[in-house]
Parts: sequence; structure tokens; C-alpha cells
Amino acid sequence: MMQLRPATRDELGYLVALARNPEIAPYLAPGTEERLEETLEERAVLGEPFGLFVVEAHGGEALGAVALRAGSARSGICNLRQLMVDPMARRRGVGTAAVRLVCHRALLEHGCHRVQSESFGDNHAAHRVFERVGFVREGVRRLAYLRDGEWVDGVLHGLLAGELT
Ligand SMILES: CC(C)(COP(=O)(O)OP(=O)(O)OC[C@H]1O[C@@H](n2cnc3c(N)ncnc32)[C@H](O)[C@@H]1OP(=O)(O)O)[C@@H](O)C(=O)NCCC(=O)NCCS
Repeated sequence: MMQLRPATRDELGYLVALARNPEIAPYLAPGTEERLEETLEERAVLGEPFGLFVVEAHGGEALGAVALRAGSARSGICNLRQLMVDPMARRRGVGTAAVRLVCHRALLEHGCHRVQSESFGDNHAAHRVFERVGFVREGVRRLAYLRDGEWVDGVLHGLLAGELT
């Protein structure tokens, strides 16, 4: 059983370390590390369902994080970002639970219309997580990002309220 709670400023060090982890950093959007604080503060400005959340096990142990940022307020669009699971806690359903919880909150509790995310083309773990939660693969931005001197695709996933599984 996993739960989400809003990250606190005291946890920024933990979150920055996670974003710098060599098993996480290559899969995050460039500049994620610098944007963690901004995401955390978005909650103070916009309130639910936005912000940066720590994913924790039932006993309170932090296992990772996920963020929801405002896209279009008029169209009820949220951007899922900064999904990170501690490499020690991988393949136990933590990522899936985190994405499901944050989407449930946005779409079913707060009336948002759509959650969307973009991930690199070689991030099969993230694609699997999104698809397990009901996201539809909507398209590919071909060779849209330069990562370590190599061009990689951006894969777009989107989830509408009735599609959450
Ligand atoms: C993506 C990530 C969050 C997944 O977290 P996780 O807790 O290991 O995911 P889960 O345990 O919920 O696994 C969900 C599914 O993905 C599959 N999966 C996990 N890691 C995988 C991998 N490396 N390759 C292929 N499939 C993988 C699992 O087998 C599972 O599928 P199944 O139900 O068919 O068995 C984690 O790998 C991570 O932090 N990666 C680095 C950061 C990142 O990629 N963030 C997303 C940016 S968009």
C-alpha cells in the first residue's frame, strides 16, 4: 500500500539527490533538478491537486516522488512530471501506484479533464507505467531532444477521466 503526501522544503535535499541519481537523471527532462523547488511552491499558489509529492510506503518510508503541474486551467489540463522511484525500490509497483494516485486526485477528485506526460523514446519502464494506469500513447515527437550528444524521441501519453484503471 503506497501513499502520496505533499513534499516539504526540508525534503528538497532528498529530492535533488534522487534527481541526480545516475539511474534516474538520464530519464528526466533537462533542468528537473532546478525546477523541484518551483514545483513544490506551485502548490502554495494553486493548491490541489498540484505540486510535488513524496511517494511513501505504508510505514512512512520515502520511495520516490511525482509532480503534477498546471497546464491549461481553461481546458483542465495537468502535466505529470518529475516521476522518480528510488532504484532500490524498483519493479514493486511504486511508480504505477504513484502515477495512479496523482491521476485519481486530479481527474476524479478535482475535476481535471486530462493528464499528460512526455518521456524519452527509450524509457520503456515509464511507458509501461503509463499504459498500466490507462494512458494512451498519443504520438511521438521524433528526435526532439538532444541527450548526451544523441537525438532521442519524445513520446506523448495522455489520460482522460474515464480512462483511469
Ligand atoms: C519509470 C519508473 C518510475 C518506474 O518505477 P517502478 O516503481 O519500477 O515501476 P513499477 O514497479 O510500477 O513497474 C510498472 C511496469 O513497468 C515495468 N518495468 C519497470 N522497470 C522496467 C524496465 N526497466 N524495463 C521494462 N519494463 C519495466 C514493470 O515490469 C511493470 O510492468 P508489468 O506490470 O507488466 O510487470 C522508474 O523506473 C524510474 O524512476 N525511472 C527513472 C526516472 C524516470 O524514468 N521517470 C519518468 C520520466 S517521464
